[in-house]
Amino acid sequence: MKNGTLYGVGVGPGDPDLITLKATKILRQVDVIFAAASTKNSYSLSMEIVSPHLKEGVPVVPLGFPMTRDKRKLASAWEKNGRKVVEPLKRGENAAFITLGDPLIYSTFGYIFHTIKETEPHIPIEIIPGITSYQAGAAVAGQILAEAEESFAVISGALGAERLKDVVGHTDQVVLLKVYHKYQEIMDTLNQLGLASGSILISRCGLDGEVILRDLKKGFDTPPPYLSLLLIKKTDRV
Ligand SMILES: C[S@@+](CC[C@H](N)C(=O)[O-])C[C@H]1O[C@@H](n2cnc3c(N)ncnc32)[C@H](O)[C@@H]1O
Repeated sequence: MKNGTLYGVGVGPGDPDLITLKATKILRQVDVIFAAASTKNSYSLSMEIVSPHLKEGVPVVPLGFPMTRDKRKLASAWEKNGRKVVEPLKRGENAAFITLGDPLIYSTFGYIFHTIKETEPHIPIEIIPGITSYQAGAAVAGQILAEAEESFAVISGALGAERLKDVVGHTDQVVLLKVYHKYQEIMDTLNQLGLASGSILISRCGLDGEVILRDLKKGFDTPPPYLSLLLIKKTDRV
Protein backbone atom coordinates (compact mmCIF):
# COMPACT_ATOMS: atom_id res chain seq x y z
CA MET A 1 0.00 0.00 0.00
CA LYS A 2 1.18 3.53 -0.82
CA ASN A 3 2.18 5.55 2.24
CA GLY A 4 0.29 8.74 3.03
CA THR A 5 2.06 12.11 3.18
CA LEU A 6 2.91 13.94 6.38
CA TYR A 7 2.43 17.70 6.09
CA GLY A 8 4.23 19.97 8.56
CA VAL A 9 1.81 22.90 8.55
CA GLY A 10 2.65 26.35 9.91
CA VAL A 11 -0.55 28.03 11.10
CA GLY A 12 0.90 31.51 11.69
CA PRO A 13 1.56 33.39 14.94
CA GLY A 14 -1.97 33.65 16.34
CA ASP A 15 -4.08 36.07 14.29
CA PRO A 16 -6.52 33.69 12.49
CA ASP A 17 -6.18 35.80 9.31
CA LEU A 18 -2.45 35.03 9.13
CA ILE A 19 -2.80 31.39 8.11
CA THR A 20 -1.90 30.77 4.45
CA LEU A 21 -4.36 29.63 1.77
CA LYS A 22 -2.14 26.61 1.16
CA ALA A 23 -2.31 25.61 4.84
CA THR A 24 -6.12 25.82 4.84
CA LYS A 25 -6.26 23.76 1.63
CA ILE A 26 -4.08 21.00 3.11
CA LEU A 27 -5.97 21.04 6.44
CA ARG A 28 -9.27 20.45 4.61
CA GLN A 29 -7.79 17.43 2.81
CA VAL A 30 -5.95 15.46 5.50
CA ASP A 31 -7.41 12.50 7.41
CA VAL A 32 -5.86 13.21 10.79
CA ILE A 33 -4.30 16.19 12.59
CA PHE A 34 -1.47 16.00 15.13
CA ALA A 35 -0.51 18.84 17.44
CA ALA A 36 2.10 19.13 20.19
CA ALA A 37 0.43 19.51 23.57
CA SER A 38 3.59 20.55 25.44
CA THR A 39 2.34 24.02 26.29
CA LYS A 40 -1.44 24.32 26.75
CA ASN A 41 -1.14 27.87 25.51
CA SER A 42 0.14 27.10 22.02
CA TYR A 43 -1.88 23.86 21.70
CA SER A 44 -5.22 25.57 22.24
CA LEU A 45 -4.18 28.54 20.12
CA SER A 46 -3.16 26.33 17.16
CA MET A 47 -6.44 24.42 17.53
CA GLU A 48 -8.44 27.65 17.57
CA ILE A 49 -6.68 28.84 14.41
CA VAL A 50 -7.22 25.62 12.45
CA SER A 51 -10.68 24.57 13.63
CA PRO A 52 -12.66 26.52 10.96
CA HIS A 53 -10.55 24.85 8.26
CA LEU A 54 -10.88 21.15 9.20
CA LYS A 55 -12.89 18.47 7.44
CA GLU A 56 -15.88 17.50 9.60
CA GLY A 57 -15.10 14.73 12.09
CA VAL A 58 -11.35 14.69 11.40
CA PRO A 59 -9.53 13.31 14.47
CA VAL A 60 -7.17 15.67 16.30
CA VAL A 61 -4.46 13.85 18.26
CA PRO A 62 -2.48 15.77 20.92
CA LEU A 63 1.13 14.61 21.28
CA GLY A 64 2.89 15.02 24.64
CA PHE A 65 6.41 16.43 24.46
CA PRO A 66 7.99 16.64 27.94
CA MET A 67 9.49 20.05 28.83
CA THR A 68 12.81 18.58 29.94
CA ARG A 69 16.44 18.50 28.85
CA ASP A 70 16.80 14.85 29.90
CA LYS A 71 17.96 13.30 26.61
CA ARG A 72 16.62 9.83 27.41
CA LYS A 73 13.15 11.07 28.32
CA LEU A 74 13.09 13.25 25.21
CA ALA A 75 14.26 10.48 22.89
CA SER A 76 11.63 8.09 24.22
CA ALA A 77 8.86 10.73 23.81
CA TRP A 78 9.95 11.49 20.22
CA GLU A 79 10.01 7.82 19.37
CA LYS A 80 6.55 7.24 20.89
CA ASN A 81 5.11 10.28 19.13
CA GLY A 82 6.84 9.32 15.89
CA ARG A 83 5.16 5.89 16.02
CA LYS A 84 1.73 7.50 16.59
CA VAL A 85 2.22 9.75 13.56
CA VAL A 86 3.49 6.93 11.34
CA GLU A 87 0.48 4.60 12.00
CA PRO A 88 -2.07 6.42 9.78
CA LEU A 89 0.58 7.25 7.19
CA LYS A 90 1.32 3.54 6.77
CA ARG A 91 -2.40 2.91 6.22
CA GLY A 92 -2.18 5.34 3.30
CA GLU A 93 -3.85 8.23 5.15
CA ASN A 94 -2.54 11.79 4.92
CA ALA A 95 -1.73 13.62 8.15
CA ALA A 96 -0.89 17.18 9.20
CA PHE A 97 1.28 18.19 12.14
CA ILE A 98 0.24 21.74 12.99
CA THR A 99 2.56 24.25 14.57
CA LEU A 100 2.38 27.94 15.56
CA GLY A 101 4.30 30.21 13.22
CA ASP A 102 6.55 28.25 10.87
CA PRO A 103 7.31 24.52 11.29
CA LEU A 104 11.05 25.00 10.72
CA ILE A 105 11.58 27.69 13.37
CA TYR A 106 11.91 26.35 16.94
CA SER A 107 9.02 23.96 16.50
CA THR A 108 8.28 20.52 17.94
CA PHE A 109 7.69 19.55 14.33
CA GLY A 110 11.50 19.32 14.08
CA TYR A 111 11.50 16.31 16.47
CA ILE A 112 8.91 14.47 14.39
CA PHE A 113 10.72 15.40 11.17
CA HIS A 114 14.07 13.98 12.39
CA THR A 115 12.48 10.85 13.89
CA ILE A 116 10.48 9.94 10.78
CA LYS A 117 13.39 10.75 8.43
CA GLU A 118 15.55 8.33 10.45
CA THR A 119 13.09 5.53 11.08
CA GLU A 120 10.81 5.66 8.01
CA PRO A 121 12.78 7.50 5.32
CA HIS A 122 10.40 6.36 2.57
CA ILE A 123 7.44 8.31 4.07
CA PRO A 124 6.95 11.56 2.12
CA ILE A 125 7.06 14.75 4.19
CA GLU A 126 6.00 18.16 2.87
CA ILE A 127 6.44 21.44 4.70
CA ILE A 128 3.85 24.20 4.43
CA PRO A 129 5.58 27.37 5.64
CA GLY A 130 3.84 29.71 8.05
CA ILE A 131 4.21 33.38 8.91
CA THR A 132 6.59 33.47 11.87
CA SER A 133 5.98 35.22 15.17
CA TYR A 134 8.83 37.63 14.52
CA GLN A 135 7.60 38.60 11.04
CA ALA A 136 4.22 39.41 12.56
CA GLY A 137 5.93 41.14 15.51
CA ALA A 138 8.08 43.31 13.23
CA ALA A 139 4.94 44.20 11.24
CA VAL A 140 2.91 45.37 14.26
CA ALA A 141 5.90 47.27 15.62
CA GLY A 142 6.65 48.84 12.20
CA GLN A 143 10.27 47.72 12.51
CA ILE A 144 12.33 46.76 9.45
CA LEU A 145 14.26 43.57 10.15
CA ALA A 146 17.00 44.09 7.53
CA GLU A 147 17.65 46.43 4.64
CA ALA A 148 20.52 47.08 2.23
CA GLU A 149 23.50 45.04 3.48
CA GLU A 150 22.20 44.48 7.00
CA SER A 151 21.71 41.10 8.60
CA PHE A 152 19.62 39.83 11.48
CA ALA A 153 19.89 36.76 13.67
CA VAL A 154 17.10 34.75 15.25
CA ILE A 155 18.03 33.14 18.56
CA SER A 156 16.37 31.54 21.58
CA GLY A 157 16.45 33.07 25.05
CA ALA A 158 15.29 29.86 26.71
CA LEU A 159 18.67 29.36 28.38
CA GLY A 160 19.28 33.04 29.13
CA ALA A 161 21.44 35.78 27.60
CA GLU A 162 24.72 33.97 26.76
CA ARG A 163 23.83 33.45 23.08
CA LEU A 164 22.73 37.06 22.84
CA LYS A 165 26.16 38.22 24.04
CA ASP A 166 27.87 35.97 21.44
CA VAL A 167 25.70 37.01 18.53
CA VAL A 168 25.04 40.69 19.03
CA GLY A 169 28.49 41.83 17.82
CA HIS A 170 28.09 40.02 14.50
CA THR A 171 24.76 41.30 13.23
CA ASP A 172 22.65 44.47 12.97
CA GLN A 173 19.55 43.20 14.73
CA VAL A 174 18.71 40.25 16.97
CA VAL A 175 15.32 38.60 17.21
CA LEU A 176 15.06 36.86 20.58
CA LEU A 177 12.31 34.28 20.99
CA LYS A 178 11.33 32.46 24.22
CA VAL A 179 12.15 35.41 26.46
CA TYR A 180 9.58 34.68 29.18
CA HIS A 181 11.56 32.33 31.41
CA LYS A 182 14.89 34.21 31.75
CA TYR A 183 13.54 37.68 31.09
CA GLN A 184 15.28 39.30 34.08
CA GLU A 185 18.71 38.02 33.00
CA ILE A 186 17.96 39.11 29.42
CA MET A 187 16.89 42.59 30.57
CA ASP A 188 20.04 42.98 32.71
CA THR A 189 22.18 42.01 29.70
CA LEU A 190 20.36 44.46 27.40
CA ASN A 191 21.07 47.23 29.91
CA GLN A 192 24.73 46.22 30.34
CA LEU A 193 25.25 46.20 26.56
CA GLY A 194 23.45 49.54 26.10
CA LEU A 195 20.78 47.88 23.95
CA ALA A 196 17.70 48.36 26.12
CA SER A 197 16.63 51.65 24.54
CA GLY A 198 16.73 50.15 21.03
CA SER A 199 14.75 47.07 21.99
CA ILE A 200 11.07 46.34 21.50
CA LEU A 201 9.11 43.70 23.41
CA ILE A 202 6.10 42.26 21.58
CA SER A 203 3.75 40.03 23.56
CA ARG A 204 0.72 38.08 22.29
CA CYS A 205 1.16 39.52 18.80
CA GLY A 206 -2.17 39.60 16.92
CA LEU A 207 -4.08 38.28 19.94
CA ASP A 208 -6.20 39.71 22.76
CA GLY A 209 -3.86 41.41 25.22
CA GLU A 210 -1.24 42.28 22.59
CA VAL A 211 1.48 44.51 24.07
CA ILE A 212 4.18 46.47 22.25
CA LEU A 213 6.73 48.00 24.62
CA ARG A 214 9.46 50.30 23.28
CA ASP A 215 12.55 51.61 25.04
CA LEU A 216 13.04 48.92 27.65
CA LYS A 217 15.42 50.91 29.85
CA LYS A 218 12.63 51.04 32.42
CA GLY A 219 12.12 47.27 32.15
CA PHE A 220 8.65 45.88 32.76
CA ASP A 221 6.75 45.22 35.96
CA THR A 222 5.52 41.67 35.43
CA PRO A 223 7.14 38.72 33.64
CA PRO A 224 6.16 38.75 29.97
CA PRO A 225 3.83 35.93 28.85
CA TYR A 226 5.06 32.82 27.02
CA LEU A 227 4.13 34.37 23.66
CA SER A 228 6.68 37.19 23.83
CA LEU A 229 9.65 38.14 21.70
CA LEU A 230 12.24 40.89 21.53
CA LEU A 231 13.51 42.88 18.55
CA ILE A 232 16.94 44.20 19.51
CA LYS A 233 18.31 46.80 17.10
CA LYS A 234 21.80 48.23 17.44
CA THR A 235 21.54 51.46 15.46
CA ASP A 236 20.20 54.68 16.95
CA ARG A 237 17.70 55.07 14.10
CA VAL A 238 15.04 53.05 16.03
C1 LIG B 1 8.44 27.33 20.41
S1 LIG B 1 8.70 28.94 19.74
C2 LIG B 1 7.72 28.81 18.28
C3 LIG B 1 8.17 29.75 17.17
C4 LIG B 1 7.29 29.62 15.93
N1 LIG B 1 7.47 28.33 15.30
C5 LIG B 1 7.53 30.73 14.91
O1 LIG B 1 7.74 30.43 13.72
O2 LIG B 1 7.46 31.89 15.29
C6 LIG B 1 7.66 29.85 20.83
C7 LIG B 1 8.09 31.31 20.89
O3 LIG B 1 7.65 31.99 19.71
C8 LIG B 1 7.32 33.34 20.02
N2 LIG B 1 5.90 33.58 19.68
C9 LIG B 1 5.07 32.71 19.05
N3 LIG B 1 3.87 33.29 18.81
C10 LIG B 1 3.95 34.57 19.30
C11 LIG B 1 3.04 35.67 19.35
N4 LIG B 1 1.79 35.60 18.85
N5 LIG B 1 3.47 36.84 19.92
C12 LIG B 1 4.73 36.95 20.41
N6 LIG B 1 5.63 35.93 20.39
C13 LIG B 1 5.25 34.76 19.84
C14 LIG B 1 7.59 33.51 21.52
O4 LIG B 1 8.93 34.00 21.66
C15 LIG B 1 7.46 32.09 22.03
O5 LIG B 1 8.14 31.91 23.26
